[in-house]
Amino acid sequence: MTATAFSVMSQGKVDPDLLSQISDEVAIVEEELVQQVRSSVELVDKIGKLTLSAGGKRLRPAFVTLAAKATGYDFDATRTRKLGACIEMIHMATLIHDDVIDNSGTRRGRPTAGAEFGNAAAILSGDVLLSKAMVVLASDGDLEIIRSISGAAVDMAQGEVREMDVRGDFDLDEATHLEILRMKTASFIECCCEVGAIVAKASPEICQALRSFGFHVGMAFQIVDDLLDYRGDKAKTGKPLATDFREGQATLPLIYLRTELSDAESTIARMRFGNGVTDDEIRMIADWMDTRGCFELAEKAAKQHITQAVMSLQALPASPARELLETVAHHVVSRQS
Ligand code: IPE
Ligand code: IPE
Ligand code: MG
Ligand code: MG
Repeated sequence: MTATAFSVMSQGKVDPDLLSQISDEVAIVEEELVQQVRSSVELVDKIGKLTLSAGGKRLRPAFVTLAAKATGYDFDATRTRKLGACIEMIHMATLIHDDVIDNSGTRRGRPTAGAEFGNAAAILSGDVLLSKAMVVLASDGDLEIIRSISGAAVDMAQGEVREMDVRGDFDLDEATHLEILRMKTASFIECCCEVGAIVAKASPEICQALRSFGFHVGMAFQIVDDLLDYRGDKAKTGKPLATDFREGQATLPLIYLRTELSDAESTIARMRFGNGVTDDEIRMIADWMDTRGCFELAEKAAKQHITQAVMSLQALPASPARELLETVAHHVVSRQS
C-alpha cells in the first residue's frame, strides 16, 4: 500500500532507488504484521486479518524508516521494521476503537470490525492488538523508545477521550480543538519520526528537528482528514462522508463557518448538528463551507503546518531521504485518501 502511496506522493520527483528501498522496508513490516497479528483465539485472528487485509497507507512505519534514513547515519533496519510493526498495530487498534466511538461502519472501503463482529468484539480485539504491540516494544527494549511510544499512545487515547467529551459542542473553540488534534494525531506521527531518529542514534538536535517535522505533518494530516470528511470522495477515502457533523464533532470547517452564518442558518445548523441531519442538509452545509471560504481557510491552516514541517528539516543534512520527507509533507495537503 505505502509503496503505491509514496510513489503517488513523489510524482516522479524523488530518487526511484530510495522509493523502492522504502517500499521494500514497508513490505517487510507487512510480513512482520501478518506474524504478529495472528492469534490462537479465532475471533481475534479474524478481526486482525480483516483489519490488515483492508490495507491502509502504512504511513507511520514508512515515517519511522524514512526519518532514520534522513539522519544520514547507518542504522539497524531490523529494529525500524519491528518498531514500525509495533506502531502500525497501535494505529490499527486505535482505528478499530475509533470506528466504534464514531459509529462508523466503513473504513478502507470495507466494513469495520465493529460492523462485522459487533462493538464488544471490536473493542476487545483492539485491546489484544495494543497488548501485542507492547510485546513487540518490549522485545526491542530501548527505554527511550518505550517512553516515546507509550507517551504517544497515552496522548492519543486521552485525545480521543477529550474529543468525545466535546462531542455535541457546536461552539467548541479553535484552541481546544487544535489541542485535541495534537493529542489524537500529531503526537503519534511526531513519535514515528522520533523513533526513527533514536534508532539511528541521532543527536538531540536532529531528534528535535524530526519530532517537529512529525508534529506539523500530523497536524496538517488531521486537518486534511477533517476536510475530506466534508468534501472527500468516499470511493477514495474508503470512509463515509460527514461523520463529524452527523456525530456532532466540530472541526475547523464548522468552526470557521459559524461566524459566516445568518441567524436563521445558524439555527438550522445547530439543530441538526449531531442530531439526525439529512444528506440534503449535509450537502447544503458543505456548500456553505465551500462558498464562504471555510474549506480554503482550513486548507491554509494545514499548509502553514507543512511550511513549518519543511522548515524543521533544514537542521538535517541534504539527502534524497530529506527530499522525500519534504515531498510527502506537501502531498499531505493534496491527498484524496
Ligand atoms: C486515519 O489515519 C486516522 C487519522 C489520523 C486521520 P490514516 O489515514 O493514516 O489511515 P490508514 O491507515 O491509511 O487507513
Ligand atoms: C482517528 O480520528 C483516530 C485518531 C486520530 C486517534 P478520526 O475519527 O478523526 O479519523 P477517521 O476519519 O475516523 O479516520
Ligand atoms: Mg473516526
Ligand atoms: Mg474519531
